[in-house]
Amino acid sequence: MCGIIGFAGNTEAVPILLDGLERLEYRGYDSAGVAVASPEGRLQVKKCKGRLGVLREALAAQKPLTGQVGIGHTRWATHGEPNDVNAHPHVSQSGKLAVVHNGIIENYMEIKQSLLHKGVVFASDTDTEVIVQLLEYYYKKSSNLMDAVYEVLNRIKGAYAMGILCSDFPEQLIAVRKDAPLLIGYGADGNYIASDVTALLAHTRTVTYMEDDEVAVVTADHVQILGRDGCFLEKEKHQIQWDVSAAEKGGYAHFMLKEIMEQPEAVRRTIQPRLADGEIVFEELEDERDLMKGISRIYLVACGSAYHVGMIGKYALERLLGIPVEACLASEFRYSGPLLGESALVIVISQSGETLDSMAALREAKRRGSKVLSIVNVMGSSIARESDHVLYTWAGPEIAVATTKAYTTQTVLLLMLGVYLARRLDRIGNGEYQEIVRELHGLHERIGMVLKNLELYQKTAARYFNHDSVFYIGRNQDYALGMEGSLKLKEISYIHSESYAAGELKHGTISLIEPGTLVVALAVYEPLVEKMRSNIVEVRSRGAEVVAVTTEENRDMIGSQASEVFVIPKVHTLLQPVLGVVPLQLFAYYIALNRGCDIDKPRNLAKSVTVE
Ligand code: G6P
Repeated sequence: MCGIIGFAGNTEAVPILLDGLERLEYRGYDSAGVAVASPEGRLQVKKCKGRLGVLREALAAQKPLTGQVGIGHTRWATHGEPNDVNAHPHVSQSGKLAVVHNGIIENYMEIKQSLLHKGVVFASDTDTEVIVQLLEYYYKKSSNLMDAVYEVLNRIKGAYAMGILCSDFPEQLIAVRKDAPLLIGYGADGNYIASDVTALLAHTRTVTYMEDDEVAVVTADHVQILGRDGCFLEKEKHQIQWDVSAAEKGGYAHFMLKEIMEQPEAVRRTIQPRLADGEIVFEELEDERDLMKGISRIYLVACGSAYHVGMIGKYALERLLGIPVEACLASEFRYSGPLLGESALVIVISQSGETLDSMAALREAKRRGSKVLSIVNVMGSSIARESDHVLYTWAGPEIAVATTKAYTTQTVLLLMLGVYLARRLDRIGNGEYQEIVRELHGLHERIGMVLKNLELYQKTAARYFNHDSVFYIGRNQDYALGMEGSLKLKEISYIHSESYAAGELKHGTISLIEPGTLVVALAVYEPLVEKMRSNIVEVRSRGAEVVAVTTEENRDMIGSQASEVFVIPKVHTLLQPVLGVVPLQLFAYYIALNRGCDIDKPRNLAKSVTVE
């Protein structure tokens, strides 16, 4: 959730830290801070509540923090309200040690109590401060910094990625991780640590992913990585394919709009390499011809929008494969007694590949003998590395907190996987298969057509942005689409919104429909369009204003009942959600724009959720 950057090099650290924090701000933006070691061994810290801009201004207004080794942090508050004191870096009582941390230390209260008894004075309410005070306690005892770091790791429980500075070793920083992402970057001017590769793209694309329980000592010319037992490790270096412009706004007002507009290209990148000679090909699964052998059920496990992708997948895969498929919220999965084992295939869907609940579900599935296949966007992320098989979406970096292109590419990839498996199992007719393959070839162009109607979405949003409650209704995969449309709207515009299976509304919630209530009706799923029409009539006759989404074929039938209609091209029913979501994204975007919301960084949210 929080963003971490660290630098040890031959040039001033602060500009590099601030630039890295700017690129990491989507991971959390309650407060930000930096700590720099001066060459003579003095730790200088500046941290402020609020966005990074506040920190920048505060730094500009004072004597510069000079030094070539430093750590920085942008925070999404868990323990302790967002204020200056609770902002990271946290400093030990003597001022010798500073720590930035992402994650949660679960036993921090117990450790804090014991340190309080020993006379340690705490400044903040955070779990993180416990780490730095404990480190100082052990360091004083042993006078050996690395021994003290290991003592701390033995004592703390929970998830963490950390950067540590010590004034006795002003030329180095120490990095540690467990269940939270951290990587090391090798640049021309020095070496880096970061919680996210986007923070490093301007400096290097050569990285090493740290694994759980590893400790790294980073200086300007050296990186040493040690295992939990203190042994040196030889770690692989990876080359990142993304370039820095992919993580910049490129003239768009917001990353969200840029990423919506990038969808044709992102979806093309997901699909094209997997189509060859009229077939869907997954090279990643070539060695696993028997992936489905003995599999009697599938769990699709994810959080947030990725869970909504799972809901679409449930309808599609169940029909295609003829076995039970369940979409599960990752935060519930391991507590709900899933029927795991060799006969269950678990598909984890995650843009970041770092979401803690999804990761925990993955581990539980593996522990209980199930094979795990993941659909991930970020290469080398934890979920990708721990899965038995990984299918990358290749959507490029997604910066806006509200996901768009990751969602569409995940959807298309999951649907392609379903069709591919159905083909292997001989469960899909040749005609239907060929039709889907043909439509996959042109799907990105169809998305481009939906994106042409910007004016209509803008105009409709201008008409409805003042509503304070919006319902989304749909049936079958349109219900899943409504879930995503509703989430998009509420997360960026702060309008209360609910999504209902259209047939369910009359079992209670219809009581909330009154003259003027806005209902977004999804009538895209061809087999149930007529039933949706009846549901639209039901809410209309109670005074609702209806904005409908439907296909060209049904424009008249649905449009005649709606105040406004967004029309999308007709494709094979299975692929229809990939187009259906686009007007919903833009509708939410323009509503939020009209309301003057901070679209890329909505309140209380963070893009990558690495706490439970
Ligand atoms: C956060 C993001 C959502 C995302 C969810 C799962 O809540 O704001 O956009 O869908 O996490 O993230 P993941 O990286 O696992 O797809």
